[in-house]
Amino acid sequence: NEISYVMVKPDGVQRGLVGEIIGRFERKGFKLRALKLYSTPKEVAEEHYKDLSSKPFYKDLVQYILSGPVVAMVWEGDGVVASARKLIGATNPLASEPGTIRGDLAIEVGRNVIHGSDSPDNGERETALWFPEGLVKWDQTLEPWLKE
Ligand code: GTP
Ligand code: MG
Repeated sequence: NEISYVMVKPDGVQRGLVGEIIGRFERKGFKLRALKLYSTPKEVAEEHYKDLSSKPFYKDLVQYILSGPVVAMVWEGDGVVASARKLIGATNPLASEPGTIRGDLAIEVGRNVIHGSDSPDNGERETALWFPEGLVKWDQTLEPWLKE
């Protein structure tokens, strides 16, 4: 089953947007498989963003992610990776559509409140990185009301 690693970044936590953001995924109907408020270890932040390590903003990006606790979560569902990216909106919040999380709640790329995996493979890779303890298995009993 497809999973996406989604994370409320430190600015989202500080600004009190955790409930608002989780609510959007919850109401959409995806299944929550893991959730924690997390003080990110430096090695995890660096590994998470290693593909961007050659970028000029990499140091600031890692510093941003380490600037306070994050809310780490894993959501499951058919097409969840692409759908989460749509809910989140474009990387630059000024270019994000209104109605998306970044479009509604952020103004700068360096403070864009949320992360979502960009491919199913990265969903798996990032989940293993942030939740080595594993996911929670449970039955979503309203499934017949969400899926034909
Ligand atoms: P994530 O879901 O966080 O991975 O964002 P994304 O997939 O929309 O963008 P990308 O993976 O390319 O970049 C990861 C993060 O790096 C972004 O969410 C931004 O926080 C940050 N970032 C990307 N481009 C820039 C930039 O030009 N300047 C700064 N300061 N930060 C950037
Ligand atoms: Mg990305």
